[in-house]
Amino acid sequence: MSYVISGDCCSDASCVAVCPMNCIHPSPGEPGFGTTDGLFIDPRTCIDCGACADICPVDAAKPADRASAVDVQLNTAYYAERPALDGLDLDSWEPPNFDRWSDGPRRVAVVGTGPAGMYTTREFLQRSTAEVTLFDRLPVVGGLARYGVAPDHPVTKQIVKTFERIAAHPRVRWRPNTEVNVAELEGRYDAVVHASGSFESRRLGIPGEEAALTAAEVVAWYNGRPGARAVALRGPRVIVVGNGNVALDLARLMTADDRRLAGLDLPAQVRESLAGVTEVVLVGRRGPDVAAYTASAFREVEHSLGIVFRHHVTPAAWDHRGLTTLDGETIAADSLITAIGFTGRPIPGLPFDEVRGVVPNVRGAVVGRPGHFVTGWIKRGAQGGIGVNKACARETVRTVLTADVPQPA
Ligand SMILES: Cc1cc2nc3c(=O)[nH]c(=O)nc-3n(C[C@H](O)[C@H](O)[C@H](O)COP(=O)(O)OP(=O)(O)OC[C@H]3O[C@@H](n4cnc5c(N)ncnc54)[C@H](O)[C@@H]3O)c2cc1C
Ligand SMILES: NC(=O)c1ccc[n+]([C@@H]2O[C@H](COP(=O)([O-])OP(=O)(O)OC[C@H]3O[C@@H](n4cnc5c(N)ncnc54)[C@H](OP(=O)(O)O)[C@@H]3O)[C@@H](O)[C@H]2O)c1
Repeated sequence: MSYVISGDCCSDASCVAVCPMNCIHPSPGEPGFGTTDGLFIDPRTCIDCGACADICPVDAAKPADRASAVDVQLNTAYYAERPALDGLDLDSWEPPNFDRWSDGPRRVAVVGTGPAGMYTTREFLQRSTAEVTLFDRLPVVGGLARYGVAPDHPVTKQIVKTFERIAAHPRVRWRPNTEVNVAELEGRYDAVVHASGSFESRRLGIPGEEAALTAAEVVAWYNGRPGARAVALRGPRVIVVGNGNVALDLARLMTADDRRLAGLDLPAQVRESLAGVTEVVLVGRRGPDVAAYTASAFREVEHSLGIVFRHHVTPAAWDHRGLTTLDGETIAADSLITAIGFTGRPIPGLPFDEVRGVVPNVRGAVVGRPGHFVTGWIKRGAQGGIGVNKACARETVRTVLTADVPQPA
C-alpha cells in the first residue's frame, strides 16, 4: 500500500521536502508544477512512511486504503508514462554553484551511515566531484532506518536498499565495522562530516529507573541490531512512559496478535516475549491535544484493544509493585519501558552542548573546528523522521561546498 494525494492538494509542496524517496511530483522547478491539479505520489517507489500525511496542511495525503478510488487512480495514472525514479537519482549531476573546490576532486569523510550520512553522501555525489569515504561502526549501512524503524513497517525499511546503492557508487569507499575518532581523520580529508546520530535514551530521573528498560535497548533488541543485549521483557502488562512515535511503535508491536507477529522478521525469542504482553499502558505527562506522536502513527493504534492511554500522569518511582505517580497512585505492571526521547553522545575532540545533546554548529559547520561539519540528529537533536534529514544534509553540504561558514560573534 502506498500513500495517495487527493484533489484537496494545495501544492505548497511541504510534502516534497520531507519525502525520503523523492516520490512526489511535479515538485517545484519541474514541468507541470503549479499547473497540474495538485501533486501525485508514485505508488511504485512510495515506502509508506506517512511523512507526507503528517506535514500536509490540508490533510490531502492519505494511505491508499483511506483514499477514494478516483484519487488512487489519478495518482497511479500520473506515473503511467513516467519512469520510476527513486531517492537515488544519482545520474543527474548538478553543476556546483561554488568555486572553492574547482581545482580538482576532494576527499570527504562521512562518519555514520544512517539517513543523514547517506543523504549527505548523495548530495556530495550530485553536486561535486568529491570522493567520499563512508564509515560506520556497524557492518551494514542504514542506521536507524534499518535498526530503529519497527519490524512491522517493512516497506519503510526498504529505503535501506537505496542507501546500499549510494554506498556502492564508484566515488564512494565504504568502511564498515569502523569506529573512527576525530584525531585519526585529522589532515586526511578536506572535510569531515559527522553523522553519528543521537541514540542514547533520555533518563527520567526517578528512583528504581535502573531496573526499567529503555526504548533504545528494546528497539535494538527487537530489530536484531548487532551487539544488542537480550532484553527481559515481562508481561502481561507493560507500562511505556512517553507519548512520542517511538512509544507508539513499542505499544503497537507488543499488542500485535500472534498471527501478525508470526509474519514479521523477528528472532524467535523476541516473538515469544512480545506475545507474552497483552496490555500496554501508555503514560503521558501532558494531554492528548499536545501529544508528541503524529496523526499517522496514532491511526495505526486507535483501534487496538490492548492499549490504554493515561494522560497527565507524572512518574515518581518504579519498583516490583509497579509505577508510582506523583499523585500517589500505583499502576501495577510487570515491566516499565521509558520512551521519552533520545540525546546525542559527545564526540571526543569536538565541542558538545550537554543541554541540547548536539554538537554546536552554524548551518552544519562545527563551531570553532574548521573542516568539521555535522548533519542529522547529532546536528539538530533527536527530532524528525527519515525524510527530514534530506534537507538537513543539503544545508550541511552547501555549507561545506561554499565555505559559507558564519561564526558566532
Ligand atoms: C526507534 C525509532 C524508530 C523510528 N522509526 C521511524 C520511521 O518509521 N519513519 C521515519 O521516517 N523515521 C523514523 N525514525 C526517525 C529516523 O530513524 C531518524 O530521523 C534518522 O535515523 C536520523 O538519522 P541519523 O543519520 O542522524 O542517525 P542514525 O540513523 O542513528 O545513524 C547514525 C549512524 O552513525 C553510526 N555511528 C555512530 N557513532 C559512530 C562512530 N563513532 N563511528 C562510526 N559510526 C558511528 C551508527 O552506527 C549509525 O549507523 C525512528 C527513530 C527511532 C529512534
Ligand atoms: N513513524 C515515524 O515516522 C517515526 C517513528 C518513530 C520515531 N519517529 C521520530 O523520531 C523522533 C523521536 O521520537 P521519540 O518518540 O523518541 O521522541 P519524542 O517525539 O520527542 O517524544 C518524547 C515523548 O516523551 C515525553 N517525555 C519527555 N521527557 C519526559 C519526562 N521526563 N517524563 C515524562 N515524559 C517525558 C514527551 O512528552 P512532552 O511532549 O510532554 O515533552 C513525549 O511524549 C521524533 O521526531 C519522531 O517523530 C518517527
